[in-house]
Amino acid sequence: MEFLCKLEGCIGAYKCGQMAATLHQMAESLGRAVDAKDKRLFEHSALTADLATLLALAHGLSDKQADIIHIAGHLHDIGKIGIPDAVLGKPGRLTNQEWAVMRQHPAIGAQILAPIANFGARNGVRDIVLTHHERFEGGGYPRGLRKREIPLGGRILAIADSVAAMLEYRSYRPALQLGEALAEIERCSGSWYDPSLCRDFLQHEAEVEAVVRRHAHTEALQGNEAKASAG
Ligand SMILES: [Fe+2]
Ligand SMILES: [Fe+2]
Repeated sequence: MEFLCKLEGCIGAYKCGQMAATLHQMAESLGRAVDAKDKRLFEHSALTADLATLLALAHGLSDKQADIIHIAGHLHDIGKIGIPDAVLGKPGRLTNQEWAVMRQHPAIGAQILAPIANFGARNGVRDIVLTHHERFEGGGYPRGLRKREIPLGGRILAIADSVAAMLEYRSYRPALQLGEALAEIERCSGSWYDPSLCRDFLQHEAEVEAVVRRHAHTEALQGNEAKASAG
């Protein structure tokens, strides 16, 4: 099974292939715009998008559905553009008040994407961006949705985003090894994450590792290697 992003290959397959490829590249650029606010995270959105594609296909979704989730992966944190740098770039942990500001980013992201009519369908890119921080058992944000109230794409992105983030260095913690990140997904299966998606993700560890390796030149991920070589 091939888990690579399919959108670049669409030229010639879709009538509007060139447009679809351009849409993907635009989404990747906008994802980089957000990640550039912290240069160590330059490829966080791209890694999230690739892990989300892998999980969507591993869960049996069609290429078309996986493409929508991939685009949402690139754009998932676009709302952080509306979060003050003092909060976004704060070294160390956020106060409760700062967290309240940070938690607005999915709704801001949905507002930013509102003019794109094609993203507005139910379970479309906009819905997925809005729900990527909802938790399977409730208690997530912005709406505290539960289980199937959360669009499938939002449940997929929750896992992809978390794994990408865990593998990256943060000022308040070291980067995790892939095995540690996957153990965390297993631990939170059924509470934070959809258990059927966790199962599919954990069954494809070799493919996950290959995707992460493709992004291994990212500075934030290199914290991993430095940690490993330091023993
Ligand atoms: Fe992509
Ligand atoms: Fe986010």
